[in-house]
Amino acid sequence: MLERIDHIAIAVEDLEAALALYQGVFGVQGVRREVNEADGFEVAAFQIGETAIELLVSRRPDSVVATALAKRGPGLHHVAFQVADVAEAAQCCCDQGLKRIDAEPRPGTGGSRIVFLHPKSTGGTLIELVEPGTGQNQPGKQKREE
Ligand code: CO
Repeated sequence: MLERIDHIAIAVEDLEAALALYQGVFGVQGVRREVNEADGFEVAAFQIGETAIELLVSRRPDSVVATALAKRGPGLHHVAFQVADVAEAAQCCCDQGLKRIDAEPRPGTGGSRIVFLHPKSTGGTLIELVEPGTGQNQPGKQKREE
């Protein structure tokens, strides 16, 4: 069911400090930034091989990122696995007893469709299932189309 790791999301309190680490110390290039107004956070993302790293910073006190920082502090927020069909994969997970946070697939970045699985049903890790869109930031999808 899981085809590859699409992205790993890390909650940070200070985006500039996080970028100083990844760009300044680790030498990461090609950082793209995107504001998710609906969910109240900003993403700074870059590729490490086939996998994106997303640094998430809250833009308002009631965002999911703010909640995560308050509960667990900065660090790993979720792991996103690419699937061929997110609706089918999520249903399959539910049929086997997992709990989903999103009742229906919803839009993710780059035209993707996503469903989150509840960490209480996955051993404590927030897992995102991603069906890639046709956006340019979807290396797995591009690779399949080559
Ligand atoms: Co994600």
